[in-house]
Amino acid sequence: MATAMTMAERADALEHRKMEELDVIIVKSRLFNLADADLEFVGGAALQAKHPGKKMLMGDDPRLPKMPAKPTLLDYFKYRFAPAAHLLQSAKHALKAGMSEKVVLASLLHDIGVIGFIRSDHGYWGSQMVAPYVDEEVAWAIRAHQALRFYPDESVGYAYPELYAKYFGADYKPDAYIERDYQAARKHKWYMTARLITVHDIYSFDANAKVELEEFTDIVGRNFRQPKEGLGFDDSPSAHMWRTLMRPTRYL
Ligand SMILES: [Fe+2]
Ligand SMILES: [Fe+2]
Repeated sequence: MATAMTMAERADALEHRKMEELDVIIVKSRLFNLADADLEFVGGAALQAKHPGKKMLMGDDPRLPKMPAKPTLLDYFKYRFAPAAHLLQSAKHALKAGMSEKVVLASLLHDIGVIGFIRSDHGYWGSQMVAPYVDEEVAWAIRAHQALRFYPDESVGYAYPELYAKYFGADYKPDAYIERDYQAARKHKWYMTARLITVHDIYSFDANAKVELEEFTDIVGRNFRQPKEGLGFDDSPSAHMWRTLMRPTRYL
């Protein structure tokens, strides 16, 4: 009876019905299930028994916007990160302040971890994703912004974000590894590049401001090495991360 179903059972039933409308079996990876505090792992045989006559998805997910055959960074912005207002506004803020192209690019990319991949440790993930394609200083700064966001720097007018006090509680203390990485970044020759990301890391400088992705086409063109095979189909150390973003539900 419907009334006896738990929330999880209802969600499962809905997912099952939606799957019946597709001609492939789409499976959530363990990580997605962990986000629902679900430790269940269903093997291939059980899945096919549940969806007779269907095959596992081994390509594009028909429910997601189709990506071009040779995607660029801007395609990921359009088809996977959109609307990306926070990134566009932060980059615009840096641009308006007359920052270098490195800082503008770093601001544009600083939170792709959050908006495209995973929140937890997003600075570390985002940095790894872009490292093969950008100046080492940009990748380093994106990694370091993760820790620097939690520590003020009066010399540039950066205060601990009020929003963090609201989100995490006034008594929140970053983990020991964040404190360690902050201390190391403080002494690093590129400290100020990462610090400037935090200065321009704004949630909204003008609630009505609409920043177009195209405003950054030239800066991206000059500072992001777009692989000719398409971002994700190249053989860089992080190409697989881009492919996973392109096709997050491939069976293997
Ligand atoms: Fe961030
Ligand atoms: Fe941010």
